[in-house]
Amino acid sequence: MTDTIQNKITFSSIKDTLVQKFNHNIHTPLVDAMLNYKKSPMTGFHIPGHNRGLGVHPKFSKLVGNELLQIDTTDEFDNLGTLHPQSGAIKEAQDLAAYTYGAKRTFFVTGGSTIANLALAFALSSPNDEVLIGRNCHRSVLTGLIISGAKVNWVIPKKLNDWAIFGNIEADEIDEKLKHNRNIKLVWITNPTYEGVVSDIKKISEICKKYKAALIVDEAHGSLWNFNSKLPTTALKLGADAVVHSLHKTGGAMTQASMLHLGKNSKFDEEKVCHALKLLHTTSPSLLLLSSLDAARANLSSEYGQNLLNNAIENALYFREQSKTIKNLSVLDDKNIDITKIFIKIKGLTGLQLEYILEKNYRIEVESASDEGILILSNIGNTRCEFEYLINSLREISNTKYEMTQNNVKIMPLIDPEIVMNLREAYFAPKELVKKEDAIGRISSEVIALCPPGISVLLPGEIIKKEHLPYLFLNDKIEVIKE
Ligand SMILES: Cc1ncc(COP(=O)(O)O)c(C=O)c1O
Repeated sequence: MTDTIQNKITFSSIKDTLVQKFNHNIHTPLVDAMLNYKKSPMTGFHIPGHNRGLGVHPKFSKLVGNELLQIDTTDEFDNLGTLHPQSGAIKEAQDLAAYTYGAKRTFFVTGGSTIANLALAFALSSPNDEVLIGRNCHRSVLTGLIISGAKVNWVIPKKLNDWAIFGNIEADEIDEKLKHNRNIKLVWITNPTYEGVVSDIKKISEICKKYKAALIVDEAHGSLWNFNSKLPTTALKLGADAVVHSLHKTGGAMTQASMLHLGKNSKFDEEKVCHALKLLHTTSPSLLLLSSLDAARANLSSEYGQNLLNNAIENALYFREQSKTIKNLSVLDDKNIDITKIFIKIKGLTGLQLEYILEKNYRIEVESASDEGILILSNIGNTRCEFEYLINSLREISNTKYEMTQNNVKIMPLIDPEIVMNLREAYFAPKELVKKEDAIGRISSEVIALCPPGISVLLPGEIIKKEHLPYLFLNDKIEVIKE
């Protein structure tokens, strides 16, 4: 029996019992398997060689705690199941996640959404296939297209120039692009934006269906949406073929733990995606990360997790309300926004300056700083007390005069890229390193994308222009195609 058939049989046969289990008791198959493993370990002669912490530097052991080292293991061993092919408790945990998110199939990924995006590009596009990509996509999408050799067509989101960030993607723009290029069979957009702006995915999905194009939504920052109706609707419920979630970002999973879901009626070949993941994924996935995905899904489904999420939403609303009383402070607001992502600016300060003041004077660290403002996340792990401190600090900052030097540095590249060569061909073409000032007018052969937000400044095959220079402050030299 092939792995696919086996998966289908097992999944459909457990589905009914899953419904019962889900309603009465929130199961954590992988966390439970790990607890059993911790309780009754075998004598192991296998990787990881530190053997439950014994071979680790004592300082590191003290740092992370012996409890953690005892469960640092990989699949195959200790009856925990395997990731590729999916089996045992790992498979059961993935099936439960698929059920919870309303997906046809869910894959756990330990290399972050970066690996999920690479796998989707690798599995679903081929050399010279035409793909429509949102300009504000994460660099992993573009790296995926370098691997696959597909051709990029851009859809440019609205530019919120007062905030120096991208806004939503208009569904009509997608319609236009698909109408004029019937070769485009894949649309790939980021939703929400890094700052929380949401596009009309329902309409975009209908348009994609009209033109028989598949839709991938990089919902890396929207993994909580499934769990509270005050948040936007996940693309999995709006007809997307594939959706990526960084559960480690806001969902409470360990850093690097993500999920890749295929929609209920996904056009994509499950086996192709599975195969691409197998090729790109580590062959020693961390069970700590995998079980944290099982735990995050169960947590968010539970009363405890629901309370945490409600608190995060209440704290965000509290912040938004209180901020109105702070002079010179503005909050990005829109009816189509994930309210837990709060992008603010203070008159007279750039985003980088505000971030610096908060860190240096108040020991407050925010998610990111951009040209105009900073991004604050209201997380399931934040308390009201922390928000009170943040509000008081911002009030003090807004009443203080700062003498700060301005520099010609920019973060968010609101530039429309002019691509003159296929990404993959440009990446592998003969190249040379030149000073960035001498690179104007030349064709880039490298990906330059600051993280966060990971939006490309330059791509292989893109013409370098004078307006790129302020974004290239970390590069003295740039790799360009040899003339
Ligand atoms: C929209 C988007 N997609 C994908 C990624 C990559 O996610 P990860 O850090 O989980 O690899 C990021 C990272 O910031 C992102 O912002």
